[in-house]
Amino acid sequence: GKVRAPTHIISTISDDRGEEPCYAGVPMSTIVEQGYGVGDVLSLLWFKRSLPRYCTQFIEICIMLCADHGPCVSGAHNTIVTARAGKDLVSSLVSGLLTIGPRFGGAIDDAARYFKDAYDRGLTPYEFVEGMKKKGIRVPGIGHRIKSRDNRDKRVELLQQYAHTHFPSVKYMEYAVKVETYTLSKANNLVLNVDGAIGSLFLDLLAGSGMFSKQEIDEIVEIGYLNGLFVLARSIGLIGHTFDQKRLKQPLYRHPWEDVLYTK
Ligand code: ACO
Ligand code: LMR
Repeated sequence: GKVRAPTHIISTISDDRGEEPCYAGVPMSTIVEQGYGVGDVLSLLWFKRSLPRYCTQFIEICIMLCADHGPCVSGAHNTIVTARAGKDLVSSLVSGLLTIGPRFGGAIDDAARYFKDAYDRGLTPYEFVEGMKKKGIRVPGIGHRIKSRDNRDKRVELLQQYAHTHFPSVKYMEYAVKVETYTLSKANNLVLNVDGAIGSLFLDLLAGSGMFSKQEIDEIVEIGYLNGLFVLARSIGLIGHTFDQKRLKQPLYRHPWEDVLYTK
């Protein structure tokens, strides 16, 4: 019989060997002719399946809402400084992307992990938040530098509204909102932030769509797919900031001395 030489790479999401490339078995012509969107393509390449329209639309809304948040946030600031140092597009982009992490934009996976664990174990918001405090861990998905009880994050409201209308269940999001009610009783800026909203709502999407087994959901949460949504989305804005600085012919950035506390 045939002897198959061992391969050095295994790949399961795309194939370019035929007449046209396929994403998770779906040929490019189908993607174009049937009007697939970015949410559909993401579903094929990340989850290896087509998802219902309300799910792919939710993914696209996440991408649009997180595409940018002005020039002052960590990612845009880094990108702007890098572009002004005369660096190329990719360097400026990755300089901004490298700030995405547990404090900024990259708290989605941990928010999903902790909210899921707390909800599934039946913890009250009090038990959950105080338990985290005892462990010295800030609740991922809670807190914001400029948003607060009286200056709510519109993006969070829009995601919640969409899910209320289209998702069969929003149990994880409702749990996250109960956690927010408790944290807001402690401080005004401890709102459910956009990372927490996406993290909890994606749990609802995974559990409610009927497209994923329990084991698959656990794997997605454990591996951590969801920060990828912010990375993907914010790349759009960071590329825009790079072009903006180049267009404006901005010179090398130097931080003003007056804004530094020099001390021993
Ligand atoms: N959970 C519990 N307590 C918190 C949290 C939280 N998530 N955030 C702030 N606090 C409390 C803490 O007691 C903190 O004191 P500490 O420094 O001794 O821990 C106190 O509030 C003061 O914190 P602030 O100065 O108000 O918070 P800051 O403005 O520095 O941080 C931040 C904002 C980074 C978003 C913070 O709330 C946090 O770490 N949140 C969790 C991570 C997260 O969700 N990041 C995503 C933000 S949204 C985005 O980036 C797109
Ligand atoms: C963002 O999306 O970049 C913001 O939520 C972060 C911020 O501090 O405004």
